[in-house]
Amino acid sequence: MVSMISAITALALTITGTASAAFTGHAQWYFTGGVGFCGFPLPANKLVVAIATPVYNKGVNCGRTAQVNFQGKSVNVTVYDQNNVFVNQGDIDLSQTAYSQLTSLDNDGITVTWDFV
Ligand SMILES: *[C@@H]1O[C@H](CO)[C@@H](O)[C@H](O)[C@H]1NC(C)=O
Repeated sequence: MVSMISAITALALTITGTASAAFTGHAQWYFTGGVGFCGFPLPANKLVVAIATPVYNKGVNCGRTAQVNFQGKSVNVTVYDQNNVFVNQGDIDLSQTAYSQLTSLDNDGITVTWDFV
């Protein structure tokens, strides 16, 4: 019994060590323009993300960088906006520029993992 618990603990540690991203969610692309909820203009690289209102946390996470991962590709985006209709905390809207670095814009709706970096 003790050894089984040890094995489970070791397995849990292995899984935790591999899966480092804090969030998993549905990602779509959206038209960015003007000033997002965060209140700053679109950065020149246009690599921005809108995050769920609870994670946006009244703007506390504005300007932070998030690394978004999809099928072996990653892109770093700046928190620029919030979206209050997301179902899951990990759901995001990416700018077209950012989304197109992960997959085709025609592929509308992908499951991503992401984390603040
Ligand atoms: C994102 O930024 C982090 C921290 O600067 C860096 O380690 C990582 O390589 C970057 N990822 C990409 C995809 O540029």
